[in-house]
Amino acid sequence: MSQSATVRKPLGGLSHKAVWIAPSILAADFARLGDEIRAVEAGGAGLVHVDIMDGHFVPNLSMGPGIVQAIRPVTALPLDVHLMLSQPGRYIDPFVKAGADHITLHVESEGDIHGMIARIHEAGCSAGITLRPGTPVCSLYPYLEEVEMVLVMTVEPGFGGQSFMRGQVPKVRALRERIDRLGLSVHVEVDGGVAVGTAGEVLAAGANVLVAGSSVFHAANGAAAAIAALKADMPTQG
Ligand code: DX5
Ligand code: ZN
Repeated sequence: MSQSATVRKPLGGLSHKAVWIAPSILAADFARLGDEIRAVEAGGAGLVHVDIMDGHFVPNLSMGPGIVQAIRPVTALPLDVHLMLSQPGRYIDPFVKAGADHITLHVESEGDIHGMIARIHEAGCSAGITLRPGTPVCSLYPYLEEVEMVLVMTVEPGFGGQSFMRGQVPKVRALRERIDRLGLSVHVEVDGGVAVGTAGEVLAAGANVLVAGSSVFHAANGAAAAIAALKADMPTQG
């Protein structure tokens, strides 16, 4: 599909009142990636979360623009690309060309974050900003009026299958309160160790987009049941 023919699905168009499940394909069976994505789409996923790692910003390598290009024709869901890169500015164009709909940057990355957000918007994609567990939540405040989504990491970025870091939940609450007080339409996404139980906690704190890798792709009863269970996980105070 040529660049001009790409119809983007930026996340600003998604309801801020609904709960969206974004399965992370880092946990999928890479040998059957197309089937895995079709299964989560059929099972009620709202987005496909794509974790990009450079082995420098995080101690792991994952995938590149070629994977986004390969899965683009497989699904109509928005591709939610999470750049865990030291120099994300070098990769915005390749991921846009590959078919990304949304691109999230780490506030700790090198380069002009404001300028990168503008470039993501110029390409017709929505933009997000995220932070490591050790970074204070106020570091995201300067970007809230520019982005369509904030992402709170509830694990150290770099690997799937880690345990949920409950100490990060106050960041979710603080961001939701600030976004609402400012009257902004910004999604709050949570990423890392999200499963039945922890999903309810972050929903109660104000999240509305849940990244789920292991709890969906490694679910004993299949992706559809896992996604339904996450959506139904009642908000609980941690
Ligand atoms: C970690 C990634 C997460 C991870 C989520 O660096 O950003 O998206 O793949 O996987 P689970 O849900 O298994 O923690
Ligand atoms: Zn991620």
